[in-house]
Amino acid sequence: MLHTKNNKISLFVLILIIVYTSQIIYCQDDKILALEKRIQDLEARQQQYPEVTFLTYKDRKRILVTGGAGFVGSHLVDRLMLAGHEVIVADNFFTGRKRNIEHWIGHENFELINHDIVNPLYIEVDQIYHLASPASPPHYMYNPVKTIKVNSIGTINMLGLARRVRARLLFASTSEVYGDPEVHPQKETYFGNVNPFGPRSCYDE
Ligand SMILES: NC(=O)c1ccc[n+]([C@@H]2O[C@H](COP(=O)([O-])OP(=O)(O)OC[C@H]3O[C@@H](n4cnc5c(N)ncnc54)[C@H](O)[C@@H]3O)[C@@H](O)[C@H]2O)c1
Repeated sequence: MLHTKNNKISLFVLILIIVYTSQIIYCQDDKILALEKRIQDLEARQQQYPEVTFLTYKDRKRILVTGGAGFVGSHLVDRLMLAGHEVIVADNFFTGRKRNIEHWIGHENFELINHDIVNPLYIEVDQIYHLASPASPPHYMYNPVKTIKVNSIGTINMLGLARRVRARLLFASTSEVYGDPEVHPQKETYFGNVNPFGPRSCYDE
């Protein structure tokens, strides 16, 4: 009697294991199919880049855009890519988003580096557009010390790179460097009205 009962329990456990295992295999199949579809979609998408101008080796520049995944940077990247240049974006995605530049990912003229410009960057470029910085009060006040580092150490790093490889550098800066201006418009001779202790001081590049 006891023997038969044990057999029934064993059979029940066996059935449970079989059902559970087949469920796992079924779910894994689903996941694999979904992943294969995503890979196919990505591969198909890589074929469809906006048409870029062909530039000869002599005219084509290697251009670094720091903060290239941000608002200003991503539009500049589009412009430079369409003009036929080689573009390298260095961004730590603090406020920038990959989706701003995803339409260039995989293009032979495009490179994306996840890099915090507070750390040195050693690459060979002809031009640098230095736009990396938290750029709105909630972002630059989120970590004021980090904001100061980005705009001081980060900029020194970019100036060092420019000097080392003899590249031209454009720094976006901000009208905040003048503080709350006392005159409009500001002439070249105007030196600003900056509060070095105010909440915006961390951003006064
Ligand atoms: N948008 C404007 O109206 C405006 C006006 C004046 C000045 N600016 C200046 O232009 C530049 C770009 O502004 P935006 O509006 O495109 O801002 P944004 O926030 O959209 O872009 C800034 C980019 O810099 C990146 N970044 C921040 N810290 C970084 C770090 N440590 N290392 C690498 N990348 C980093 C962010 O992830 C982002 O992609 C900023 O320097 C800003 O001060 C912008």
